[in-house]
Amino acid sequence: MCGIIGYSGSFCAQKILLDGLEQLEYRGYDSAGMALQKSNGELFLRKKAGRVSVLREACEGAPINSVCGIGHTRWATHGGVNDVNAHPHNCGKVTLIHNGIIENYHEITAAFGFAGRLHSETDTEVAACLLDYLYQGDPFEALRQAVDILTGSYAFCILFADQPGRIFCIRNVSPLVAAHNDSGSFVASDLTALIAYGKSYFVVPEETVMTLSPEGISIRDLSGQPVEPEILTVDWNVESARKGGYPHYMIKEINEQPEALQNTVLPRLKDGLPDFTDEGIPDTLFASCDNITVIACGTAMYAGMVGKAVMEQAFKIPVSVHIASEFRYDTPLISSRTLTIVISQSGETIDTLAALRLAKACSSRTLAIVNVKGSAIARESDYVLYTHAGPEIAVASTKAYTVQLAVLYLIACRFSLLRGCFTADQGRKFIAALLSSSGAMEQMIRHDQAIREAVKTVKRSDHAFFIGRGLDYAFSLEGALKLKEISYIHAEAYAAGELKHGTIALIEERTPVVALATQEKIFAKTISNVREVRARGAAVILIVKEGAQVDPDIYDIRIDLPVSQDEFAVFPAAVSLQLLAYYTSDAKGLNVDKPRNLAKSVTVE
Ligand code: AGP
Repeated sequence: MCGIIGYSGSFCAQKILLDGLEQLEYRGYDSAGMALQKSNGELFLRKKAGRVSVLREACEGAPINSVCGIGHTRWATHGGVNDVNAHPHNCGKVTLIHNGIIENYHEITAAFGFAGRLHSETDTEVAACLLDYLYQGDPFEALRQAVDILTGSYAFCILFADQPGRIFCIRNVSPLVAAHNDSGSFVASDLTALIAYGKSYFVVPEETVMTLSPEGISIRDLSGQPVEPEILTVDWNVESARKGGYPHYMIKEINEQPEALQNTVLPRLKDGLPDFTDEGIPDTLFASCDNITVIACGTAMYAGMVGKAVMEQAFKIPVSVHIASEFRYDTPLISSRTLTIVISQSGETIDTLAALRLAKACSSRTLAIVNVKGSAIARESDYVLYTHAGPEIAVASTKAYTVQLAVLYLIACRFSLLRGCFTADQGRKFIAALLSSSGAMEQMIRHDQAIREAVKTVKRSDHAFFIGRGLDYAFSLEGALKLKEISYIHAEAYAAGELKHGTIALIEERTPVVALATQEKIFAKTISNVREVRARGAAVILIVKEGAQVDPDIYDIRIDLPVSQDEFAVFPAAVSLQLLAYYTSDAKGLNVDKPRNLAKSVTVE
């Protein structure tokens, strides 16, 4: 949470920071601010509650001629949303921006007597005061001492009044990437802000002090030794992080799913079967485990629920799915015979990272399914399988979900082959069906009339229910989350057979019920549950496979999925549920890409 950018070079810093903050706004949009430093050290601070556009307006009216500065977009944790709590924060010679949480800021305030110096309610301002207190002309030394005092997660970019043109950075857990090229030196919380300026970058190592200047970037560890970071190459282009003619990122990302699935699956196939050896993942990882634990948050966790159903069915070993924020404080029943799979689009969700560390401490082998290269979860996990979705900017996750599923299906296939549950021929058929899901998603995107019709029913209501059994239940969870987060309609996903044990009391005349009935084995049972809600007045939106025989009296709207095999229904079904949420939010005139109270990456507990 919170977007960070810093620049030191020879071009207009104000422009670079404002453009970068716009790219980073999905990380938080409560306020935005920047500090620009002139070559004589003079500092200009601008910060405003609200969107980056508000800051841009304030800045462009009175531009500052500077080639060095830091900028921040905030997701509020400590203190309300107002100008004073916006970053940067200044204390004496120190001006800084921060992503993360300083857990002991009360103790520091008391121990150093900072109370009288603070203007905001933020933990960040306390860190600025601490650094100013420790600073005796040597930024490295002040930062080295500060690290011993601060607890929590942080990525700081700091300007010192008497060090013009230089930006000092330090991080613990919270992400920072950096790059130097002909335009100067850049640092940011994520790559989307940097890709306009070049293809090479590196992940700033933890426990190091990094200094940016127009000439280059130097890094030293806390004992003062130089550190050479590993240079990585971005495989996204600038356009992939822009809207490209679509009205919102979310609809662009929904449209990108067919290609993202192909990009994720095809490079991992050998002779039509999945093979992960090029990614350094030995078959023994799969062959030697007795059970699987999947850990994630939100959409990624719901992908895990689908993965569980598919994996248990395919190779018959127990798979349990855990909410990361719960798992991390549990006493998990896992061992060296457990394969822990952590799933995260961003690779920086703090609860998922903590859960990964706990799993490792329990001797479990860990495999991460991650979208962002070089992210903390990718680096700390024993093995990583990247999803190749490209940047996902909309806060509501869409393409990340379907490619996470694709990787879980690949794992299911590899496991099944190794455990003798699939013949090679069965494996190839499974993979062919997975690849054809790309076409099914495409068709769903092109033929969305029934979904648009369903929006008219859903948007009028304050509540909606999603029901299904088995795999249908697993993907209805994600459908309900999508609708809640961007349309602000209370939506609940329920196992269809469980509804009559209480929840059916909430069904009233015209309550929207999205019923998924794509699974042959339990089709009749789900349809019975649909009849039950219909009898109580529900407005039923029924999602079934093309050709399914259903009495038209039991639904208002029918959405047909172009798919034949049950276990692959999730791909077009996911698209239909994403579109339902998208069009509903848009029809209500809401901010689809930046729903209230949310941010893209959840880096606080
Ligand atoms: C879903 O639309 C959300 N934005 C959210 O649930 C998200 O999936 C969750 O926070 C996990 O994020 P991660 O995949 O980056 O770890």
